[in-house]
Amino acid sequence: MRNISFDYIEDELKKVEEQFEVHLITETPLIHKVAKYVISSGGKRIRPILLIVSSKICGYKGEEHIPLAAVIEFIHTATLLHDDVVDNAPLRRGKSSANVIFGNEASVLVGDYLFAKSFKILSGFKDGDIIKAYSDATTLMAEGEVKELVKTADVKTIEKDYLDIIIKKTAVLFACASKIGAIIAGNKEDYAMRLYEYGLNIGIAFQLMDDALDYISGEEFGKFIGNDLKEGKLTLPLIHALEMADEKEKDIISKIIYKKKLAAKDLSTVLTLVEGYGSIEHTVLKAKEAVEKAKKNLDIFPDSIYKRGLFDIANYIIERKL
Ligand code: IPE
Ligand code: IPE
Ligand code: MG
Ligand code: MG
Repeated sequence: MRNISFDYIEDELKKVEEQFEVHLITETPLIHKVAKYVISSGGKRIRPILLIVSSKICGYKGEEHIPLAAVIEFIHTATLLHDDVVDNAPLRRGKSSANVIFGNEASVLVGDYLFAKSFKILSGFKDGDIIKAYSDATTLMAEGEVKELVKTADVKTIEKDYLDIIIKKTAVLFACASKIGAIIAGNKEDYAMRLYEYGLNIGIAFQLMDDALDYISGEEFGKFIGNDLKEGKLTLPLIHALEMADEKEKDIISKIIYKKKLAAKDLSTVLTLVEGYGSIEHTVLKAKEAVEKAKKNLDIFPDSIYKRGLFDIANYIIERKL
């Protein structure tokens, strides 16, 4: 998000950061330590930004967007803590992940704390549609992560399964963030629906790009290259390469997926096939299509800095390197 300017919501983003501190005061210092470690490690804050800009595009003038944006980042942080344990991820945002520093136990429990705290904050909001939006999203996210686990190393995974997983584990939180903006502005019909669809589609694109970057990323991505393959994750680049491959190549890829330890040579074998079959391009193309679909949903909004902001976020997703 480095190249996009969100000056017009700078004060609000500062207030969101302050909220993190307020809600992390507990009698148990380890909670603050672990949560603070992850929250301060340089996340892009794309979900809080989406929530705030979406509220503005709907004409919102109140203050509820601040705690609600903090909650969306708390939920995101909780899922990262859990996800890095599940994925055995050593690196997050270019630093050792919380599970490496504090252990799996602390990561899981502090993730739970952040989820619980999020719903405690949400319980203070009168409008039942707010808590419904967050609980729908978190339920689906948990389902998506479980479905991904079930599909681990399943070479029969098809694009449809993969799309269902990424919609649930990633896109619904983007959709929730965008829709909340309309809900608090009192527009629960067309604007809420359009913003939900916008968020959902940029969320799909975001995960597609993430999965492409997992094969081709450089240092700035902040995660190790090839982690998905190592974990036996059938993401779109691999699904596409498997579809294109001949029987012999399929067999080679399958054997590598089943391997407990991934050698550098294995990664380069798969990379050659993934690149040779244009599977990265295929994935990026799908992401671009999702971004175009997202943008169409903004048609009904009159031109404004906020609309341009949502366009910029959509475009950034395709260009991002981290
Ligand atoms: C990472 O999300 C998890 C995915 C959905 C791929 P982000 O890339 O938004 O994470 P940070 O917060 O900016 O590090
Ligand atoms: C992220 O999925 C989705 C979450 C809900 C955390 P990934 O496992 O693909 O994300 P990274 O690569 O760890 O960020
Ligand atoms: Mg992961
Ligand atoms: Mg994961």
